[in-house]
Amino acid sequence: MPNAMQSFPTGGLALVIGASGGIGHAIQQALEQSGSFEQVMGLSRSVDGLDLTNEASIASTASTVAGMGMPVRLVIVATGLLHDGAMQPEKSWRQLDADTLARSFAINAIGPAIVAKHFLPLLPREGKAVFAALSAKVGSIGDNHLGGWYGYRAAKAALNQLMHTASIELRRTRPDAICVTLHPGTVATQLSAPFGASGHEPVEPDAAARRLLGVIEELRPIQSGLLLDHTGLPLPW
Ligand SMILES: NC(=O)c1ccc[n+]([C@@H]2O[C@H](COP(=O)([O-])OP(=O)(O)OC[C@H]3O[C@@H](n4cnc5c(N)ncnc54)[C@H](OP(=O)(O)O)[C@@H]3O)[C@@H](O)[C@H]2O)c1
Repeated sequence: MPNAMQSFPTGGLALVIGASGGIGHAIQQALEQSGSFEQVMGLSRSVDGLDLTNEASIASTASTVAGMGMPVRLVIVATGLLHDGAMQPEKSWRQLDADTLARSFAINAIGPAIVAKHFLPLLPREGKAVFAALSAKVGSIGDNHLGGWYGYRAAKAALNQLMHTASIELRRTRPDAICVTLHPGTVATQLSAPFGASGHEPVEPDAAARRLLGVIEELRPIQSGLLLDHTGLPLPW
């Protein structure tokens, strides 16, 4: 059952950045099925050339979006990196590597911050608008009881701080707008695949997308700046 996003003014544009990813693709599909926005755009590195490590590509995409002349009501940043051929989450401080840490910060924290720099100014000055960056519960320092995954945890904690800071600035010019970080839960994508369930049975991306959109639908300005989980509850920093 597609989510209806009735809390947003009618019309407008919804953007999903990282639409090639497991969760991002499912969010784009769910938004399209909801029919709640005049247009839904999915942006990715491979198709649109939007590379988080290249500010010019982010600025150029934002300029294209601004030129469409539609109110940007929803921006979801669904990008992220936990592992790839060259990078695995650290199990011990012995595996800490400066270049790998820098890469995790570049993709998980700095890239979304630069996206915020170029896309937050596109949010309308009145009416509900949401900028939501996907984060992770493991970025919560207060909830870190297991250790490990140094780079990913630290980069997501930095992302949470960057978005919280942006939410304070956003409030000054756009009091109806909301900027949050969201933990999607454990979701069956290539990002989580190597790590097993570890106590959390993964949900399929379409179910994860529906519950994230349900949280976004219920968001109110008083919650701007929070890190929320997939049920809408705030997580400790
Ligand atoms: N899956 C989970 O269980 C889980 C749990 C907690 C949090 N999260 C968070 O949820 C978000 C989405 O995760 P996912 O599971 O959907 O991961 P995914 O399937 O691996 O998707 C990651 C996305 O990030 C994009 N990306 C990576 N580097 C990029 C770059 N330099 N420039 C532009 N795009 C880049 C990828 O694009 P390309 O296709 O171009 O590489 C892809 O669209 C992430 O922030 C992740 O940390 C996921």
